Amino acid sequence: MKLAFIGVGNVGFAIANNLQKKQHQIIIAHNNSNSGSVAKALAANPNFTVLPVQEAVNTADMVFLATPFTAIADVLKGIHFNGKTLVDCTNPVGPGITHGLNSQRSGSEVVQELAPDANVVKAYTIYGYENFADSAFPAYNVKPVMLICGNNAQAKQQVAQINTDMGFDTLDTGALNQALHLEHMTLLWVKMARTGKHHPRFVWAYLEK
Ligand SMILES: NC(=O)c1ccc[n+]([C@@H]2O[C@H](COP(=O)([O-])OP(=O)(O)OC[C@H]3O[C@@H](n4cnc5c(N)ncnc54)[C@H](OP(=O)(O)O)[C@@H]3O)[C@@H](O)[C@H]2O)c1
Repeated sequence: MKLAFIGVGNVGFAIANNLQKKQHQIIIAHNNSNSGSVAKALAANPNFTVLPVQEAVNTADMVFLATPFTAIADVLKGIHFNGKTLVDCTNPVGPGITHGLNSQRSGSEVVQELAPDANVVKAYTIYGYENFADSAFPAYNVKPVMLICGNNAQAKQQVAQINTDMGFDTLDTGALNQALHLEHMTLLWVKMARTGKHHPRFVWAYLEK
């Protein structure tokens, strides 16, 4: 697939680089040709191409949003998605690792409001980027699970396929309003791995019988 990335810092680059190695075509969506992160991404993987944001979105089959949450109003302003899947990898994080929207609503619902003609799916937020750069856990006979949510079944199907390519099982947790709970799960992971004693390569698995 042709995949556009708005934001190629820690998270965007890790996912893009992983998926490029699995034969996906990666387009960096950025309007500033002097961007430091774009230059770094291109140096690390010359197979990426760069287009202005709207052009990249028009060209892509699906789009990843991986900027700081504080940048989303700016970056999504005036962008038309024409029904495409927009994977929301952003997290609203407030002071002291709290929910940046005071747990009143999810960041993904704000993203959906700012991009009303996109089918927003929340994914790739519940772990640190290290687990997106390399999502293989060969010593185990279960795969790590990627929890997702969104309102459009077809868009979630598309993200599930990407998850499989990355090495994740998919757990569809429901509609986009579940994103608030996923964002709290993110805060849990961040507190455990970034400020606690847990290793940043720890992930969750889904077992069912
Ligand atoms: N770090 C993690 O482990 C992790 C894990 C899961 C989710 N997240 C979430 O993922 C998002 C990205 O985190 P990150 O750690 O990857 O951040 P990062 O390394 O700082 O990268 C941010 C990217 O967004 C771009 N960007 C910023 N403002 C922009 C704008 N106005 N227009 C276009 N592009 C813009 C930056 O481009 P420039 O270089 O040009 O500024 C850069 O490519 C955040 O919302 C974060 O909460 C992070």
